[in-house]
Amino acid sequence: MTEKKTFVERYQEKDTPWELNRPDHNLIDFFTSFPVPVVGSAIDIGCGTGNNTIWLASHGFQVTGCDLSDIALAQAEAKAESAKVTCAFFCGDIMRDQPPGAPFVFAFDRGCFHTFDALVDRSRIAARVAELLSDGGRWLSLVGSKDEDRGDRPGPPQLSAGEVLSAIEPYFELISMRRGHFDANQASGGALNWICHFRKRALQN
Ligand SMILES: C[S@@+](CC[C@H](N)C(=O)[O-])C[C@H]1O[C@@H](n2cnc3c(N)ncnc32)[C@H](O)[C@@H]1O
Repeated sequence: MTEKKTFVERYQEKDTPWELNRPDHNLIDFFTSFPVPVVGSAIDIGCGTGNNTIWLASHGFQVTGCDLSDIALAQAEAKAESAKVTCAFFCGDIMRDQPPGAPFVFAFDRGCFHTFDALVDRSRIAARVAELLSDGGRWLSLVGSKDEDRGDRPGPPQLSAGEVLSAIEPYFELISMRRGHFDANQASGGALNWICHFRKRALQN
């Protein structure tokens, strides 16, 4: 059995098929669909090379991008500098380390939550995101969907709607969850996903 490569190794080996070099259209569409104020501090969890962090910062948030990979974050810093956008990039593990800027009013993740394989771990990250948010804070999470038979084709981890909801429900209420596709640069398009909009519960179950 081959060991799964870590994200740090994947950036070292330039094995990053999720890289867009631009924001995911699902993030942009979200702010045209929902009247969520673009003000205050936000976090991009598992921000990679910062494409979405920079978009959020250039639209009014004070944004912290957090990632495990210093290689990804060096690229993120260079992109922010050339875009003349101010973001805080923080190298650390979202589960253990304290990113600057908390509490956040908005959290975004594209492909981080779904990498937590077991329900207990997904519940832990949901609790952690809730801890980092202010009351009523929003979380937009783009999650690979199980409702797609990819055969042998590689792609992001896949979760069922139930697997997502059972992890987040104690900490978040569901505002919306719909089927879509990850943005992708390939002509074949991106993998099926869940576009999840959650709001932190005032009283956690
Ligand atoms: C699929 S990549 C997506 C990167 C970026 N969001 C994008 O859309 O290009 C998932 C990212 O989550 C980061 N990540 C995974 N677990 C993490 C953790 N516990 N703390 C911080 N970052 C994490 C990885 O290093 C990786 O950059």
